[in-house]
Amino acid sequence: MASLKIFLKSSVGRKFLVGLTGLGLSGFVLTHMAGNMLMFVSPEAYNTYGHRLITNPLIYVAEVGLLVMFVVHMGLALKLALENKVARALAPSQNPSNCEKDARFGSRYMALTGILVLVFVVLHLITFKYGPYYPVTYNGVEMRDLHKLIIEKFKSPLYSGWYLFSMLVLFVHLAHGFSASFQSLGLFSVRQCLIKKLGWLFALIVAGGFFIQPIYGYFYGGN
Ligand code: HEM
Repeated sequence: MASLKIFLKSSVGRKFLVGLTGLGLSGFVLTHMAGNMLMFVSPEAYNTYGHRLITNPLIYVAEVGLLVMFVVHMGLALKLALENKVARALAPSQNPSNCEKDARFGSRYMALTGILVLVFVVLHLITFKYGPYYPVTYNGVEMRDLHKLIIEKFKSPLYSGWYLFSMLVLFVHLAHGFSASFQSLGLFSVRQCLIKKLGWLFALIVAGGFFIQPIYGYFYGGN
């Protein structure tokens, strides 16, 4: 127990936790994007999926787990990025190695894109989770018409523009972050190039999937 505490307090341990929570959050954004794809099937499919999720008693456990992952990830990742920045300022190198360039990207763009993702997530929750309740009834069961709400929002060019910008930011965060997390966890260290390509592919699938949803909502939603 004591050695676990020492490990988690060390910079290697903190990096491990940033990688673990980053991977956990990546799994969440992938499943969230996939679930949202039901908007292309029908309003009923989308609303019923949403209703099943929010009426499942395990949703509270999942929400607390997500919140903990988010807070741990943000806190430790920003601390690491700041420490890297200070360390580089104290020992500037003329010709940075690939690893140094990677760390530079980590602290510079990951912190910036991470903070923008945080702003997006807070506004996203206010807009949808705590947004207006439109009722709809299918087979005698009343539920929230989330499909109506998302289409209403995506019909606004300002909202859709902000959403698309945020998905580009998420793409940058994941394109670097997904592969970096394997490095932090000490996994697949002999397959660096392959893992980097996988990271780009993962980011493209997640951000690309989220990208087409407001475009569809703006042009075709409700028709
Ligand atoms: C959808 C939510 C998010 C996902 C899926 C995600 C994913 C990731 C992943 C996979 C990594 C790589 C971890 C590693 O280097 O081992 C990472 C790193 C990082 N994340 Fe996030 N992240 C999210 C939200 C945030 C937020 C909200 C912040 C800050 C406010 C943030 C700040 C950072 C920073 C600064 C790093 C780099 C840490 C370093 O210097 O190594 N992330 N993220």
